[in-house]
Amino acid sequence: MYRVTLKCLALKFLLLISLFSSRFRTCDARQSVYWKGNRRSIAEGESSGTINVLDYGAKGDGTSDDTKAFEDAWKEACKVEGSTLLVPSGSTFLVGPVSFLGKECKENIVFQLEGKIIAPTSSSAWGSGLLQWIEFKSLKGITIKGKGIIDGRGSVWWNKSPDYDPVDESESITRNDMMKDQLSTKMPRTKPTALRFYGSNGVTVNGITIQNSPQTHLKFDNCISIQVSDFTTSSPGDSPNTDGIHLQNSQDAVIYRSTLACGDDCISIQTGCSNIYIHDVDCGPGHGISIGGLGKEKTKACVSNITVRDVTMHETTNGVRIKSWQGGSGSVKQIMFSNIQVSEVANPIIIDQYYCDGGGCHNDTSAVAVSNINYINIKGTYTKEPVRFACSESLPCTGISLSTIELKPATEKASLRDPFCWEAHGELKTKTLPPIQCLKTQKSPGAASKSYNDAC
Ligand SMILES: *[C@@H]1O[C@H](CO)[C@@H](O)[C@H](O)[C@H]1NC(C)=O
Ligand SMILES: *[C@@H]1O[C@H](CO)[C@@H](O)[C@H](O)[C@H]1NC(C)=O
Repeated sequence: MYRVTLKCLALKFLLLISLFSSRFRTCDARQSVYWKGNRRSIAEGESSGTINVLDYGAKGDGTSDDTKAFEDAWKEACKVEGSTLLVPSGSTFLVGPVSFLGKECKENIVFQLEGKIIAPTSSSAWGSGLLQWIEFKSLKGITIKGKGIIDGRGSVWWNKSPDYDPVDESESITRNDMMKDQLSTKMPRTKPTALRFYGSNGVTVNGITIQNSPQTHLKFDNCISIQVSDFTTSSPGDSPNTDGIHLQNSQDAVIYRSTLACGDDCISIQTGCSNIYIHDVDCGPGHGISIGGLGKEKTKACVSNITVRDVTMHETTNGVRIKSWQGGSGSVKQIMFSNIQVSEVANPIIIDQYYCDGGGCHNDTSAVAVSNINYINIKGTYTKEPVRFACSESLPCTGISLSTIELKPATEKASLRDPFCWEAHGELKTKTLPPIQCLKTQKSPGAASKSYNDAC
């Protein structure tokens, strides 16, 4: 894109000395915006290759519906490879449910978010319920970056009173409107994910904040080659189902230098994920970093090669967790959790193959196989149970390896709880605190795996 800009400038220069000034517009498609942009001062970080939503009719006053302006700006940005769609700072854009589709889009579009995007809080904007609010779909090379904020204003979905601090007049108007809406209508049952990427290859999320999502904050489904960095999510610890980052059917992802506070899993890794590397993440409040629940309703789940390292967790319900439902199939393998610092975490280390959310579950002979799970250097304090391995009776966990584990009760009053193991096979590479005596030594490797067919 840099090169394109240079070429464009050089061309402009040539045209200038030839005095063919009227030809400037044809330099490339983006040029028209530059000239249109002369009506206002050029925003910071804006170059001739930038499509500014303000030039497409966006008001940015926090109350006018800017959805169409965003759609129109996207259409224009899509025409040029490597172009930038700018959401400028200093403005708040009210945007309804929107899909940025890539089928007819050039590659490597940048969505530069410097301002704030807020979701509608009136139920009428959501019809009978939608799975996501802002969606990017079928793109090759898509970047969303900047210092901006995406605010789902989720409290209207969480069945509790809104808790906004109106800081200026426009916000207090919004608040009043929202209160009115809340009194007169109910939000649909299906809560949207704030930002979702689907079916895309080469996705970068950098610098932005997503806050108060009605449900999951950032979701990747069917994506390859993902990079998330310097990313922040922020929502209350008691907001329901508000995962920070949710990955499914996605491969080759790296997530780092991010701060995740939410009401559900800070990061949730679901079926179809492999080659995921997570490091330098701060998690809490939230439910920790989870693989699963896998194998719900007898489904097959495949998760492999996940590394989680250099993570701090504070006041989360879990630390590092693997959870699967009875009756599933497939496998979770090649997992590494290392350098995890926990502070007042209820269950720092947990494998639960009897996961059941909502009751009515019963035991089954089939299960998602859990093998080759490594825990290295996990230290800090717990409030409930330091280590829990509840593995399937018909398909025990194999290859659990632990070294340098130091977990202490968070308060002197909290009782020192023994680790719990059920059908958990593996080895201790070092002494642990507390001592983990319940782990069964490995029988012949793979003995347990004979009873299932891992076709992952
Ligand atoms: C595991 O994932 C990492 C990325 O986290 C990748 O570099 C590595 O090649 C993968 N290993 C295998 C065996 O696929
Ligand atoms: C399932 O099996 C486990 C392990 O034997 C047992 O603790 C649990 O009570 C069983 N659950 C049900 C619902 O039967």
